[in-house]
Amino acid sequence: MDEPQSTSRKQQGGTFAPSQRGRFFHWLDLRTGVDSLLHAALDEPIPGGASLAYVFGSGLLFLFVSQIITGVFLALYYIPSADHAHTTIAYITKEVTAGSFIRSIHAYGSSAIVIVLLLHITQTFLFGSYKGKRELLWFAGCVLFALMLGMSFTGYLLPWDQKAFFATTVGTNILSEIPWVGNALKSLLRGGTEMGTLTLSRFFVLHVFMIPAFIFAGVAAHVYLFRKAGAAGPIQGNAATLKQSTEPFYPRQVLFDIVFALLIICGLGLLAHFSPMELGPKANPADTQYVPRPEWYYIPVFQWLKYWEGALAIVGILVIPGFVALLFVALPFLDRRPERRPWKRPAAVTIYAIIFIGLGVLGGLSHRNDLRDPAVASQLAKQHEDVVSFMKAPFEPELAGSSLAAANVALANPLAAKGKDIFEQQGCNACHGDGGVGTAAAPKLIGVGAKYDGAKLEALLKQPNSKMTAGGMPATTDLKDEDMKALVAYVQSLK
Ligand code: HEC
Repeated sequence: MDEPQSTSRKQQGGTFAPSQRGRFFHWLDLRTGVDSLLHAALDEPIPGGASLAYVFGSGLLFLFVSQIITGVFLALYYIPSADHAHTTIAYITKEVTAGSFIRSIHAYGSSAIVIVLLLHITQTFLFGSYKGKRELLWFAGCVLFALMLGMSFTGYLLPWDQKAFFATTVGTNILSEIPWVGNALKSLLRGGTEMGTLTLSRFFVLHVFMIPAFIFAGVAAHVYLFRKAGAAGPIQGNAATLKQSTEPFYPRQVLFDIVFALLIICGLGLLAHFSPMELGPKANPADTQYVPRPEWYYIPVFQWLKYWEGALAIVGILVIPGFVALLFVALPFLDRRPERRPWKRPAAVTIYAIIFIGLGVLGGLSHRNDLRDPAVASQLAKQHEDVVSFMKAPFEPELAGSSLAAANVALANPLAAKGKDIFEQQGCNACHGDGGVGTAAAPKLIGVGAKYDGAKLEALLKQPNSKMTAGGMPATTDLKDEDMKALVAYVQSLK
């Protein structure tokens, strides 16, 4: 859409007759001013016109919303305690309909955010879009960057598998290198000296309540400041031609943004479907062999820290990263020339490239070291095997009756929940134990659903075989059809 049309749209805004506009919309507009809100949102002028180069910011917003939605679904089952966290994630991964898919979208989504964020920052940096009264806009972006790193760090621990536990142990240990306050910070984050339920609930609260609240505020500030400053537009071109090619945000830029969001969904969906996110065995703090590795985007930092041991640690952990972060945040104040073309800003672009290449090299070095050291390589291979075999094993609820996860299994299927009552009324638990865990009088029924299908099970209950009869198992003949169905569903749900 070109400029004249957009102004005509604006003029028409108030002049349409109610019947033309839709009476409901008119009614709503009189009360909410939704019409002018839409104009403000959609008619934002983009100097130089819509472009595919501008999709990253809205892509990030889209991913953030996707993380919220998938995160809410995960939270429906998750219990943040060292006893139950891992079982509930295993339950989501192995039992809940589409649970593994949603968990994978959430986990891969966090990587996608890092990638799109890097693209967004690179685009802003190369195009010099932080220039021209945009210092606060840039600053809000830096705060969001830090919050995002906080989200991925806190989220990584929540599954409470070996990988999560040991990577976070290392991550929080780094804090203690900070002079004076380091140890206090570490205990504050861990909720004590050791990693346990208190650590998990602190990370959960940060991941689910506190950081997201700050992100909401940060996104609002970032978008507001962006709208206030206006889109930066192309890096060159004279004012007159730019003005001519200016077009509103709607429809073409909106279309580009939607196309990008669809690409993201497809990418995440394919990954989640064909390569579902794995879960390893439950954290075992007593395991002294485990070789922890953080999420891929933390690996360069992880490698970097290895070079700074002993007295120098503070330089590597605090001084240099602090200096780089400060330079990064202060960029719009340091670089005040209006020049935006990257080839006219060789110093800035070179420093940026060095940092990125440096991170890439560090990541590569870490990978090479892992391959070269046979002890590490074989331990990593063993850890991978453990993950694969854990993923293949059927879901095992925590036993001992008190288990919330086991309760979830029954609750997830109302028929099975009813069957549980019948199981007890019929006195099956007298021989097979509560929850079918087995007693001296009769074998456990857990997993029996894999042996017999529903019809076979029903037949067996109505007419127990000779061995069962020998063991004193009575025939179940006095049940209504639906009660029998419920009983069978319950026995089958015992896993
Ligand atoms: C008096 C004790 C007793 C009671 C009560 C009882 N059972 Fe059994 N049940 C047994 C014994 C003993 C066996 C194992 C026979 C064998 O060795 O194969 C058995 C076997 C089974 C099996 C087959 C297990 C397998 O692995 O093949 C199922 C299913 C079963 N019982 C379900 C039930 C249900 C449901 C009820 C309640 C309606 C019930 N039982 C009540 C004693 C009992």
